[in-house]
Amino acid sequence: MTKKVYIHTFGCQMNVHDTEKMYGVLLQSGYQRTESPHAADLIILNTCSIRQKAEQKFYSELGRLKSYKKIRSDIKIAIAGCIAQQEGNNLFKKAPYVDYVFGPQNIQVLRSIAGKRPPYSALEENPDIELHDLPAERDDGIKAWISIMYGCNNFCSYCVVPYTRGRERSRPSENIYAEVSQLAEKGYKEITLLGQNVNSYASDVDFAGLLKKLNGIDGIERIRFVTSHPKDLSLGLIHAIADLPKVCENIHLPLQSGSNAVLMRMNRGYTYEGYVNKIGALKNVIPGISITSDIIAGFPGESDDDHVQTIQALKEICFDGIFAFMFSSRPHTRAAAYENQIPEDIRLQRLSEILKLQDEITLRKNKAIEGSVQQILIEGTSETDKQSLMGKTRTNKVVTILKTNIPKGSLIDVEIVKARKHSLEGIPLS
Ligand code: 5AD
Ligand code: SF4
Repeated sequence: MTKKVYIHTFGCQMNVHDTEKMYGVLLQSGYQRTESPHAADLIILNTCSIRQKAEQKFYSELGRLKSYKKIRSDIKIAIAGCIAQQEGNNLFKKAPYVDYVFGPQNIQVLRSIAGKRPPYSALEENPDIELHDLPAERDDGIKAWISIMYGCNNFCSYCVVPYTRGRERSRPSENIYAEVSQLAEKGYKEITLLGQNVNSYASDVDFAGLLKKLNGIDGIERIRFVTSHPKDLSLGLIHAIADLPKVCENIHLPLQSGSNAVLMRMNRGYTYEGYVNKIGALKNVIPGISITSDIIAGFPGESDDDHVQTIQALKEICFDGIFAFMFSSRPHTRAAAYENQIPEDIRLQRLSEILKLQDEITLRKNKAIEGSVQQILIEGTSETDKQSLMGKTRTNKVVTILKTNIPKGSLIDVEIVKARKHSLEGIPLS
C-alpha cells in the first residue's frame, strides 16, 4: 500500500519552501501526501528556531505526537529544520519516539528515508548542497518561491540562522533560470527569489545580473525577492530593480534598530544614517516603491534612549509595514551572552509601542493611495472574506474586490476605494 506523509511546517517562507521540497522528494519516492496526521505513515515536523516562541510551539506539537506513536507503533516521526540542526541527536533523548532527525542542509536524505534504520540523523554541514536539484511540490499554480542561495555569513549577534543553515552558497544562475522557465511553462505568473541575503548572491552573475536574466522569461509577470541586507544594497542594484519591468517596486529591508550603538552590537554592518541614505536612493530611483522592515525590541543593553531612537526612525522613514519582534535569546549566539539583558515586561512594552505607532503609519500610507489605480494579480478567494477575491499590488499590498468570475492568475487594474490597516478595497476597471 502507498505510504502517506504529513508535514507540519513552523516558521518562515524559507521553511515553507523547504517543506515543498520535502514533499517533492517524497512524492518522487512513491509517498502520497495527506493533510491528516492521523492518516500518515511518516510525520515530519519542519521546525524553526529563530525565536523561543517558535521553539515552544514545536515542543508542544512534539509532545502531542507521543500519543500517535502509542496508538500506531509503525508510524515514523522525523524532525527536520533548524531545531533539528541545533539539537541534533539530543532530540532522540528528549523524545525517544522520534525516528529521524535531519537539518535544513540534508533534505536529500528523504530520497532513501524508508531504508534508514531509526534512530537515524543527518546533520552534516553540506557546502556542496544540491538542494536545487530537489523537486518542489507546489500547491499554488500562480506564485512560486525559488531558492537562489542557502545559509548566511553575516553572524548578526542575535541570530541563529548561520549556525543552523550553514555558510552562504549561491545556486548557479542557469539552474535558477531553468526552474523559473519550467514554472512559466506551467502557467506561473509570479516568482519570489529566496535567500537570507539576496543582495550578496554571487554565482556566474551577481544579483542584478540574475534579475536581468529572469526578467527575460516569457510568461513570468512579476519578480519579487526576500530578504535584502542594507549593507549589501548597492546603487547599481537599485537601478537594476528600477529598470527591469517585471521586478516589483517593493523591498523588505530589515533595519532592526534606529540606534547606532545597538546596530553595532548587533553586528549589522551599517549605521542608521547609512540606512536612511539607501532609503533615499530607493525612493528617488524607484518612484512609488514600498518598503517594509524588521525591528527587534529590547536587544540586550538597549537603553530608553536607544528605544526612542527606534521610535524616531519609524516616524522618519514611514515604512509601509514592519514585522517587529521582542528580542529572544538564542543558543550559540553572541547576544545570548551579552550583559544587561532586558526584562521581558520592558521588551514587551517597547514592542507594543513600536507596533502601535507602526499601525498608525501603515494606515496613513494605505490611505495615501486611496483613489489611485493599481495593478493586482488575482490569487483567489480572500481567506478572510469568502465573498471577495484577493490580489496584491506590485508594491505587495493586499487588495480585495467583490467576487466576480475573473480567473485566478489574471492581472487587472483596480481603483482603490478604501484603505484599511491590513488591506485595501478595490473596484476593477473594465
Ligand atoms: N530575537 C528576535 N528577533 C529575531 N530575529 C532574528 N533573530 C531574532 C532574535 N534572536 C528577527 C530579525 C530578522 C527576522 C527574520 O527575525 O528581525 O530580520
Ligand atoms: Fe540572521 Fe543576520 Fe543572516 Fe539575517 S543577515 S539570517 S538576521 S545572521
